Amino acid sequence: MTRTSVRSTVFTCASCGYESPKWLGRCTECGTWGSVAESIAPPLRVSPSRRGPRAPVPLPIAEVSTYSSSLLPTGVGELDRVLGGGLVPGSVTLVGGEPGMGKSTLIMQALGRLADRGARSLLVCAEESAAQVRMRADRLGALAPDLFVVSDTSLPAVLGHVCAVEPVVLAVDSIQAVHDPDSPGMAGSVSQVRDGAQQLVALAKEHDIATILIGHVTKDGGLAGPRALEHVVDTVLSFEGDRHHALRMLRALKHRFGTTDELGLMEMTASGLEPVADPSALFLADRRFGATGSVVTAVMEGTRPLCVEVQALVAPTRAPLPRRVAHAFEGNRLTMLVAVLQQRAAIGLGDHDVYASVAGGVRVGEPAADLSVALAVAGARTETAIEPDTIVIGEVGLGGEIRQVPAASRRLVEALRLGFCRAIVPVSTPDVPGMQLRRVGDLREALVASRVGAG
Ligand code: TYD
Ligand code: MG
Repeated sequence: MTRTSVRSTVFTCASCGYESPKWLGRCTECGTWGSVAESIAPPLRVSPSRRGPRAPVPLPIAEVSTYSSSLLPTGVGELDRVLGGGLVPGSVTLVGGEPGMGKSTLIMQALGRLADRGARSLLVCAEESAAQVRMRADRLGALAPDLFVVSDTSLPAVLGHVCAVEPVVLAVDSIQAVHDPDSPGMAGSVSQVRDGAQQLVALAKEHDIATILIGHVTKDGGLAGPRALEHVVDTVLSFEGDRHHALRMLRALKHRFGTTDELGLMEMTASGLEPVADPSALFLADRRFGATGSVVTAVMEGTRPLCVEVQALVAPTRAPLPRRVAHAFEGNRLTMLVAVLQQRAAIGLGDHDVYASVAGGVRVGEPAADLSVALAVAGARTETAIEPDTIVIGEVGLGGEIRQVPAASRRLVEALRLGFCRAIVPVSTPDVPGMQLRRVGDLREALVASRVGAG
């Protein structure tokens, strides 16, 4: 490939990758002193031949072609769900996750299935030998003739392999392990990771290759390397889970081609990642029936309703500022609900610590879970348990009023499927056959309906 190079001077923070046109004593982005140094901006490698024909032409919007026709479904259902159907040719997807989460496994399964269906794929393993990768592919049943593997860490060599194989799909595992001898810095350094990613993005766009970059995340959850990496790519997926559990969650943090709402749920098994057939059943599996401070609600993860257990614990304290601790639920929302319970429903919590959590590892960000949290806290305070076959949905307003939630019927149908037959819901909720609804207008009515908080 013939390319022209344009170089210019920039000042880059070694700690966060922030770029500035002038020198700074202290990085304005991350606040580190003395970390900003002059660096050479990565060469912009543009193929001159492609510039002319790619000159954009204004078109009536309806005549602009869409991506949907050219989507490449990976065949890994949960990955496709999060991607909104599949990979977009020419797009770059960054898959981040802690070591051992299963990133290499996920991508190997995806490439194997893509190659099975004739999409020539190239896996660049910069961390493992080709033999190690072959062993994983054996285990995962991914020995497709159209899946090519090369173990290499040099970026120019990788670009050469891509030109030789001409893949439809390219995966680089991991971007931190790839090194460009022409760029400053050590392998894995901020400038190396950013420059490597930029060159691979340029390659993806130029040759219409659907590209997947695997990236490690640091302990605090950020992607190692420059923040700028997230801006360079089209899609950022985060692969999360508890190392001690088999459950893995895949979500999009950024997606230029669709929503970031969908959650992919998988389990790590001896033969790779398997979709979780019934996530609600999994989340409710260890629930103790009739426990105080335990309330089940239904949340929407993208288009999918999930039933999860909200738990609360209330403990007396002499501390002048009682604690309000939320796990997998927004802390400010808990503080607000505690205030509403006190002011609108006379539940005394001023001299009590309040803990609330969502069991099973899903993070709940929806206001639709408010009422379940409020009833769990009230139940924990008064040591009364809600009927175990009751599902609770509703947003709680500052006036103590219960507000409607989107997709109420879908949530209730999911709850019905799992054996719940009573529901405490906002007034406007439509009937669902088989579900006995208690429509409540405010928190006091909800406490009466659930028979918690009477003490
Ligand atoms: P891996 O994909 O290597 O994780 P990452 O690339 O994110 O570091 O796999 C992580 C773990 O998964 C590894 O410790 C072994 C386990 N594993 C299975 O349980 N089953 C499998 O089929 C495979 C391939 C891996
Ligand atoms: Mg790996």
